Amino acid sequence: MKKIAVLASGSGSNAENLVKYFRKGDLARVSVILSNKKDAFALERAHRLGVPSLYFGRDDFYNSSKILETLKEQEIDCIVLAGFLWLVPDDIIEYFSERIVNIHPALLPKYGGKGMFGMKVHAAVVENGEHETGITIHYVNSNYDEGSIIFQAKTEVLPTDSPEMVAEKIHALEYEHFPRIVEKIVASL
Ligand code: GRF
Repeated sequence: MKKIAVLASGSGSNAENLVKYFRKGDLARVSVILSNKKDAFALERAHRLGVPSLYFGRDDFYNSSKILETLKEQEIDCIVLAGFLWLVPDDIIEYFSERIVNIHPALLPKYGGKGMFGMKVHAAVVENGEHETGITIHYVNSNYDEGSIIFQAKTEVLPTDSPEMVAEKIHALEYEHFPRIVEKIVASL
């Protein structure tokens, strides 16, 4: 059974969806949820789901090898970023080469990069009068949202859509596709 670590900074609804999806099969489990925010709802979800969780601070992540060592000790096969807002340090990227994936709530390379996250993305999409938006699942490298693209899916943006309505459409796409794509990657490891 493969082991997945999910990193999340916020609500963690994708993290929860991944936990539930993999519990239905025997390929893999989300074996830990990590967060850089002490009060992230993702950690509460982990608790409710009975998944081990870990909070880490900036020093743990960038000025020590604590997180990499933890991931090694737990024999993690694949890291999934689901609404995780910090750049991943190089030592983790190197060790988990081609085994870290992120989901971005837009059609990269549009609406990506530093500061482009969550509702900011959807607000910009609406403001620019885009007719479509979507999700991008990609490998993670040391720049924000620049790793090679694995999968994209699109949804329509109506002139009457608010950023909140776009966010809802995006979440629906994420719940539908993210676990399936992660499953493919994990199956190929
Ligand atoms: C998702 O839209 C994801 O694409 C983005 O942040 C959001 C996280 O949502 N990177 P949640 O925390 O999984 O509910």
